[in-house]
Amino acid sequence: MEKIVIKGPTRLTGEVTINGAKNAAVAILPATLLIDGVCTIENVPNISDINITCKILEGLGAKINWIDKHTITVDCRNLTTTKAPLDLTSKFRASYYIIGAMLSRMGEIEVGMPGGCKLGARPIDQHIKGFEALGAEVTVGKGIIHAKASKLIGNSVYMDIVSVGATINVMLSSVLAEGTTVIDNAAKEPHIVDVANFLNTMGADIRGAGTDMIKINGVKKLEGNATYSVVPDQIEAGTFMLAAVATKGDLLIKNCITKHLESITAKIVEVGGEVEDYGDSLRVYCNQRPKKANIKTLPYPGFPTDLQPQMGVVLSLANGTSTINESIWESRFQYTDELNKMGAKITAQGKSAFFEGVEKLYGAPVYSTDLRAGAALIIAGVSAEGTTEIFNLEHIDRGYEDIEARFRALGANIERVKF
Ligand code: EPU
Repeated sequence: MEKIVIKGPTRLTGEVTINGAKNAAVAILPATLLIDGVCTIENVPNISDINITCKILEGLGAKINWIDKHTITVDCRNLTTTKAPLDLTSKFRASYYIIGAMLSRMGEIEVGMPGGCKLGARPIDQHIKGFEALGAEVTVGKGIIHAKASKLIGNSVYMDIVSVGATINVMLSSVLAEGTTVIDNAAKEPHIVDVANFLNTMGADIRGAGTDMIKINGVKKLEGNATYSVVPDQIEAGTFMLAAVATKGDLLIKNCITKHLESITAKIVEVGGEVEDYGDSLRVYCNQRPKKANIKTLPYPGFPTDLQPQMGVVLSLANGTSTINESIWESRFQYTDELNKMGAKITAQGKSAFFEGVEKLYGAPVYSTDLRAGAALIIAGVSAEGTTEIFNLEHIDRGYEDIEARFRALGANIERVKF
């Protein structure tokens, strides 16, 4: 087993380059199932969620070839089965995209019930509602989802709740359907736009991605044979931005789309940090103890839930008492127990948490309870006095590539140790 050991405190300084977005890549790879050709995907993050996605695609008959650390070719011309490997699909959340893509391409699919971080209930009723609206039959039982459609026909789909996954999944399932599909109350996250751009590059006709109404005119075939580069990861960029603030550091964050980071920039400025916007990079620095602030997580363009724990570290060090209201996930404050072991004073009650700011955090052994909690603990460990040991690294490795090397390059005393 492995743990991350951090000796702090360190003021992070230097430059970091942001990788391709995990949550875009885990949708774009399943989207290649729709394409009767070979796609080259660049800027793919080299993380365990991507490795699992590739194995699932291979299990369905796709041929995958890594050209370099961040570029792969996917050949889905000869799919061999409509049964996805159950153990792998149950391992992570985004395996639900296999359903939309395979329904479209093969008219049938069986997958394990999607797993992923334990953030509370994670229903997929909106995905199923969308598939059924297009004419699919979906059954769920004994941990398996089976979806089948002799023909998919475009329809109107109103999302009862703004859902990233359901919006993308209905896009995937309607691209090759007969006629037009309209998704109302669609999610607007940058990775939704990225998946639509990818599919349009391959011959789809999707309009309005990035707004709350997406129109998909079904096409007969996606030919592929094109190259696409995954959008930079908004959440990874935000993680380093908040690391700069929590450690009173000074970072140049390169290869990001600053427009995607406006809600984070606004909060950083509110707590007393400085952000200089250079269009495709940001300088973030902070010379003072952060001020208190209140946060409510919301779908894009609101403050993202996936940066809530990292922001929690900043607020646990702020001057005054701050509140975070988590409006997306039921159970995203598990990290607060770990921060409290490091001297934070946080009281979490249901979907709210109250942060009575402390001047310093102190190193302690802590457990990463989910992916973003793990990132928050790394930031906390770098800013804390003494030695922090972080366990349960599999969560962190799902979404952040070479995380300790990249923090080390910014001055952190951090290493991965076998035990
Ligand atoms: N929801 C339903 N029914 C559905 C789908 C969602 O009630 O059919 C609810 C969820 O329970 C939640 C809300 O709608 O309360 C939003 O969920 P959404 O579907 O948007 O989340 P997701 O697609 O499962 C993605 C990201 C998450 C991120 C959320 C919100 C991927 C693979 N995952 O999840 O990322 O937190 O959107 O932005 O794209 C992470 O990267 O750490 C992570 C958890």
